[in-house]
Amino acid sequence: MNLKKITVPEIVRMKKDGGKIAALTAYDYLMAKILDQAGIDIILVGDSVGMVVAGHSSTLPVTLEQILYHTQAVSRGVTRALLVSDMPFLSFQVSEAQTIENAGRLMKEGNAEAVKIEGGEPVAGVISKLVDFGIPVMGHLGLTPQSFHKFGGFKVQGREEAAAGKLLQDAELLEKAGVFSIVLEKVPASLAKRVSEALHIPTIGIGAGVGCDGQILVSHDMLGLYEDFHPKFARRYAELADEMKSAFKQYIDDVKSARFPSDDESYF
Ligand code: KIV
Repeated sequence: MNLKKITVPEIVRMKKDGGKIAALTAYDYLMAKILDQAGIDIILVGDSVGMVVAGHSSTLPVTLEQILYHTQAVSRGVTRALLVSDMPFLSFQVSEAQTIENAGRLMKEGNAEAVKIEGGEPVAGVISKLVDFGIPVMGHLGLTPQSFHKFGGFKVQGREEAAAGKLLQDAELLEKAGVFSIVLEKVPASLAKRVSEALHIPTIGIGAGVGCDGQILVSHDMLGLYEDFHPKFARRYAELADEMKSAFKQYIDDVKSARFPSDDESYF
């Protein structure tokens, strides 16, 4: 494994060199440390924390303070990966000044090395300001979960030619605004490939096919920890919820039958 620290320019270079970028989410120190040691390129403190950790049915309730807290915890476990922090709903829509302050706090107090912002044309202006001020930004297009009410659910985006054209236009606008990469969520694989080929910066897909320059999943999905729903793009690499239940059951049995603790696990 290459132990060199992953930086924003390195992520952009990976596309130029034809390499694929592997990204996953983390919300706490331990998960971040394990991911970092496994060699992940990007760790995202996603606002998905609101669903998989806090149990909300969407990402809308997540606050800046919560993302800040989780970013601080994650940053203590990361030495190599690029640490990106998600800007939650209403942390970047109210005013340019507030957006700059909020993004700055994620970097200054949270040790984030970049922030992620959902949306296209309406956020391109403020993104360009952030980049000017030295705050690297990752874009996010397609199914942007903070807008799920507008979409009428967590639906595939960009199926019709007009919507596909608009997404491509937004991606080009974001690239011009200075983002160093763009997450493409739940869009047809052919559209994600078209966008990836049109841009110089990398695309990071989630439910967007293999034509993207990298892939991201929610760690709790790919580990089989989050069982509330299972999108078809979230390949499971483990069934940790089952393993945990079986360990907890074993412990409960051992306690109830006085098989735990043993003499070796006791002080005399
Ligand atoms: O919040 C999140 O985890 C995300 C990724 C799924 C891209 O935005």
